[in-house]
This record gives sequence, structure tokens and C-alpha cells, in this order.
Amino acid sequence: MSLKEKINPSKLPQHIAIIMDGNGRWAKQHGAERIYGHENGVKSVREVTEAAAELGVKYITLYAFSTENWNRPQAEVIALMQLLVHTISIETATLNKNNIRLLAIGDLKSLPQDCYHELQEAIEKTKNNTRTTLVLALSYSARWELTDAVKQIAEKIENKTLSAKDINENTITSHLSTAGIPEPELMIRTSGEHRISNFLLWQLAYSELYFTDKLWPDFRKEDFYEAIIDYQHRERRFGKTSEQLIS
Ligand code: IPE
Ligand code: IPE
Ligand code: MG
Repeated sequence: MSLKEKINPSKLPQHIAIIMDGNGRWAKQHGAERIYGHENGVKSVREVTEAAAELGVKYITLYAFSTENWNRPQAEVIALMQLLVHTISIETATLNKNNIRLLAIGDLKSLPQDCYHELQEAIEKTKNNTRTTLVLALSYSARWELTDAVKQIAEKIENKTLSAKDINENTITSHLSTAGIPEPELMIRTSGEHRISNFLLWQLAYSELYFTDKLWPDFRKEDFYEAIIDYQHRERRFGKTSEQLIS
């Protein structure tokens, strides 16, 4: 029985979020510059997106660049942005062929102009696709997102379109950049680091976390299947007892 066949289609997560980590270490292992690792990570993005679409996973969110990543050496930041523009421009046709919609979350206005435009164009060109949604987290951090949500809510209170007593969890959820996207049931991080690194802090409240030592450029469909199988063996209790779930 192949790993793919071991996946229970009736217990498939709707949304899987991934912290794609380990490109730099992968490059080092290959005696190359860090950007070589980022370039090789693109294949893993393709694999995972394709696997998600084939399985019927409705949303896949990839952490591609964090707010904190702006603090990396300028040469790496520039090279990453160029890689992003190039990849988006050549992959849009494949996304359309595979009926995949592209979305982006994060402080997109802070991206270089060509990158921002390429991204908006790809989002526009793929907007009617329905099989799977690929969400790229770019210049994203959860604290940025939550701060932005608080600003939006405060403005509504200021101009009296919202009253403080009516604020509930839905108010917050609907002001996040992921508004309308279901919460990820599963979050995968590669490269052996066991941390969240400012990713989807609100949305991951009840997600199952899966960590693998594989470096991102080595991550393949089989690794993705393994994570899903692991997830399917977990008991998600949401604060209840095991007995309550059975009855
Ligand atoms: C993840 O790989 C990609 C980005 C953060 C853009 P890293 O570049 O963080 O690789 P390591 O963690 O240094 O190996
Ligand atoms: C998290 O990886 C951000 C992305 C994968 C885009 P980092 O490599 O930047 O995270 P830290 O610094 O190890 O926490
Ligand atoms: Mg890293």
C-alpha cells in the first residue's frame, strides 16, 4: 500500500499551512550560497501544491517571507524577491492549467513594485479557479496582522460603525488577512525547528503541529502524505474529554 493510499479521504484537512524552512542549511550542505537553497525550494512548492490539489486539500498556505526576513543581508533579500517575481510569472500558466487560485497575505505594499505587480496579476488571472487555493504569506507576520486588525476595528469604533460591546471572536477573525479562509487543521514545519516564528498565531490556536527534520528543498509529495497520515491518527479534542468525542 502506498503512502498516498493510506490517506483517509474522509478525514482530509481542508487547510494545511507550511513553514518552509531550511533552504540556507540545504545550500550549505551542497557547498553553495543560500540563494541556491531558495531556488531549489521552488520544486518543493510545486510538489506540495500539486499534491494538495490531487488529494483535494482546499487551502494550502506557504510561509515564504516573514516581516523579520527583511532584516537578512540585503543581497539575500533582493535575490529572494527576484526569485519570487520570476517564479510567479512562470508558474501562473501551470496554476491555471491545474485550476489553482493564488492568494497572498501579508504587508504586500512593502514588497518591491515589480514583485507586487506580478503578484496582483497572478492573483487576478487565477481568481476564478476552484480546485485548491494557494495562499502565499509574504512580508507576513502574525503580530503585524493582529496589529493591523486592531487598527481597522479601532477606526470603525471611531467612526461609530462598530460598538465595542459588539466585538467578539468573529470580529477579529474577519479583520485578519485570512478572512474567509478556514483555520488550518494542520501546520507543518520543516528543518527540525520547533517554533512558530510569528506565523498565523490566531489561526493556529487549535491546529495540529507537525515537525520534520527534512530541509525544505528535500520535501517531496511523500513527506506531505506522511504529515497528513500522522495528522489523521491524532485525536482533536478541542478542550473536551476523549469520552465526549466518542458519544
Ligand atoms: C526558509 O529557509 C526560507 C525563508 C525564510 C525565506 P531559510 O532561509 O530560513 O533557511 P535556514 O533556516 O537558514 O536553513
Ligand atoms: C520562518 O523561517 C519564515 C519563513 C519560513 C518564511 P525563519 O528561518 O525566518 O525563522 P527563524 O528565524 O528560524 O525563527
Ligand atoms: Mg530558517
